[in-house]
Amino acid sequence: MADKSMDGLNTFTAQDDGVAVDTSKKMRIGIIGCGWIAGSHMKSYLNQPDVEIVAGADLVPGKAKAFMEKYGIEGAKTDYASHKEMLEDKSLNLDAVSICTYNRQHAQPAIDALNAGIHVLLEKPFTVTLDEAVEVMKAEKASGKILSIGFQPRMDENMKEIKKIVDSGVLGQIYYIQTGGGRRRGIPTPFGTTFIEDATAGIGALGDIGCYSLDLVLNAIGYPKPLTVSGYKSAFFGTDPNYSGYKAGKGEEYAAKFGVDDFAAAFIRLEGGIVLDFRIAWAMNLDTPGDTIIMGTKGSLRVPSTECWNGTFEAPMTLYHEVGGLQTQTTIPLISKKDKDGLFDKKIRTFLDACKNGTPAPVPSSQIIYNQAIIDGIAKSAEAGREVEIVIPEI
Ligand SMILES: NC(=O)c1ccc[n+]([C@@H]2O[C@H](COP(=O)([O-])OP(=O)(O)OC[C@H]3O[C@@H](n4cnc5c(N)ncnc54)[C@H](O)[C@@H]3O)[C@@H](O)[C@H]2O)c1
Repeated sequence: MADKSMDGLNTFTAQDDGVAVDTSKKMRIGIIGCGWIAGSHMKSYLNQPDVEIVAGADLVPGKAKAFMEKYGIEGAKTDYASHKEMLEDKSLNLDAVSICTYNRQHAQPAIDALNAGIHVLLEKPFTVTLDEAVEVMKAEKASGKILSIGFQPRMDENMKEIKKIVDSGVLGQIYYIQTGGGRRRGIPTPFGTTFIEDATAGIGALGDIGCYSLDLVLNAIGYPKPLTVSGYKSAFFGTDPNYSGYKAGKGEEYAAKFGVDDFAAAFIRLEGGIVLDFRIAWAMNLDTPGDTIIMGTKGSLRVPSTECWNGTFEAPMTLYHEVGGLQTQTTIPLISKKDKDGLFDKKIRTFLDACKNGTPAPVPSSQIIYNQAIIDGIAKSAEAGREVEIVIPEI
């Protein structure tokens, strides 16, 4: 039992999420793409008692080997020229793979792994385009294997509370949502240019952190289908060699390579008569583009502008409602941040449990396809300069 303090306003005792793990069978795991986020997967796998890391593949020769050495994994096979070669190595007897490649290399490895009958934990964003996501889902359907997408922030207790508040009915009928977030100077280049080049990333802030803001609200309201979108995107900061967020001496190179968006905004119509107003920035001359707001006929919820890409809450949420004819506000206590560092472990554990028990994927493609459809719609609408209809092919 864990005691979770709610900032002195209240306390309650909650059952720990942890249930006994059956260690009689070790899950044989491979890692595709051995860069930065693969390290987080690795650390979380190493915290699980029922996992054996048996292989790794990276496009860069020697990178997978060095990665395994860094984490002290002995006996893992890494001498593969491609992810496909690793997936075809029957001697590995792989149960599951983590796909930690850059965005443009999400779809093909996922399709190849599912076709090989291997469960997949795929990093976010789902893919770059909606068509790619549909192809991945076709492979998922044909394989009957688990596909889960790497959205760990929704496993944060404060994030879960948003869904609980919506589900309680206290907001009434939801009709308008505003969400998004961003950084003043936060174009991600500390590890090189894979996040900013079109050939590797395909989408910028929109796919990198925008997908989290969308998941924050769409998950809370049960992922209604998106119908139309009017989108905008720009790249004023990333393409500027004098952008102050770039490392000294790198401005010219990074600006020349920058081929994605660093800001995006959209007005999206969702099934059920809900409109979603969204904006996301890797860089802007502003502290925040605004709080997340969920407006309903009985009440509205304000979620303070948050680093939604890593599940962080900085301040309590506020519920605006009417009690006995009086307009009032309720502060929703901030749940202790004790869990924050465990989000990556939860992402891995819930995925492993779904694979072992045949239960639904913790972050299912059936939801995230709508997230991807919005991102795809924003890109298409921005290109066309007008509102577009979102059409999701049959899977
Ligand atoms: N969930 C999170 O909190 C989180 C955080 C950071 C990144 N990510 C996501 O993880 C992905 C990777 O990000 P990163 O920071 O690790 O990038 P990275 O550039 O550090 O690593 C990607 C690695 O994948 C390799 N690669 C690409 N295609 C491959 C293929 N077909 N086969 C084998 N290796 C291949 C590259 O050579 C590179 O080493 C991105 O899509 C990003 O959005 C998620």
